Amino acid sequence: MRTNFPINKFHNIKTPFYYYDSGLLRDTLNIIYKETTKYKNYCIHYAIKANSNPKILKIISQYGFGADCVSGGEIQAAIDAGFPPSKIVYAGVGKSDWEINLGLDNNIFCFNVESTAELEVINTLASQRNKVANVAFRINPNIGAHTHANITTGLAENKFGIAMDDLEKTIEISTRLKNISVIGLHFHIGSQILDMDDFKALSNRINDLQCRLKQHGIVLPNINVGGGLGINYEHPDIEPIPDFAGYFSTYAKHLRILPDQKVHFELGRSVVGQCGTLITRLLYVKNGSYKKFAIVDAGMTDLIRPALYHAYHKIENISSNEEVETYDIVGPICESSDVFAKSIEINKCHRGDIIAIRSAGAYGEVMASQYNCRELPKGYITEEL
Ligand code: LLP
Repeated sequence: MRTNFPINKFHNIKTPFYYYDSGLLRDTLNIIYKETTKYKNYCIHYAIKANSNPKILKIISQYGFGADCVSGGEIQAAIDAGFPPSKIVYAGVGKSDWEINLGLDNNIFCFNVESTAELEVINTLASQRNKVANVAFRINPNIGAHTHANITTGLAENKFGIAMDDLEKTIEISTRLKNISVIGLHFHIGSQILDMDDFKALSNRINDLQCRLKQHGIVLPNINVGGGLGINYEHPDIEPIPDFAGYFSTYAKHLRILPDQKVHFELGRSVVGQCGTLITRLLYVKNGSYKKFAIVDAGMTDLIRPALYHAYHKIENISSNEEVETYDIVGPICESSDVFAKSIEINKCHRGDIIAIRSAGAYGEVMASQYNCRELPKGYITEEL
């Protein structure tokens, strides 16, 4: 049982809901801030997709970071929360015209462009507005990250980015487009990456590409390395804040930055992952023919990661101090994949117990759905309880 949850306050709130420990979020942001000030050319953009709860965005925007957006909705959410448009980067393989226009109208810092077809559309829409759009080319570096197949993005087989071989050609095309200004290169190899060698491999790849460009006399002022730093799902209390010092120094060591070049990061999971917990109530304990099921009122509609990626989240019965027993923790949704964990040991369960599903601050609330006509889970930060 974990005691530093405000469990007495949880009893009055309708479950399931997300609880965000704003103290931990602020501690995490302070560390990021402190670590990045060691490098004068580092710029942080929070990846809105990880958690776009307005209360979370409000806190993050107070630290002066930019925002990484992947849709018009995210651009709007970032602006509403106080992120300056001049620090917004916008990526995505399928940007609609209205989304591009929203970016142009707000003079966002940069469009991370994923194809020449998209480049031409941005040029047309920018020319209709008499504007010049800043773009960075998202390059597919063909580097595998040691993570789940569904969340690796930097391989040639993935839909993301422009092929490395097409880089010079793409830059060449862009020089003929009057309403486009190429200001950088963008990369992102995947998410939940814990092996720093993956970031080292990306750095080496970027170094090679920069050499290639230099031969053509091209120097771009911005290198965006994307996000991807993972969190400790097994031991959230031992490592509540990821090793940002090690992460940033890996790039400082391996990425060869040219004078005056800026390095941009798009951090999502590592910022918000550990501060969020899905709080759910135990409905029933059911004895199957050879298993014991703990049926909770949260389901895959509230947190889809275990069903979608077989992702591990630590689960605790924060109401009980009794001996541990082995359960499958399952939700109420009419899908066999609505399982949070199989054969795990937690303190003996009783109807009404509060169960905490940990490390759910990233890609939790944002990925919730209303399947089975369920209500979307609400999110509360510490100050609201
Ligand atoms: N930049 C780009 C271009 C991205 O595609 C992503 C994440 C990020 C930054 C932020 O990555 P992070 O720092 O959070 O690793 N739903 C999955 C994760 C999908 C990640 C999508 N892209 C999950 O629940 O594990």
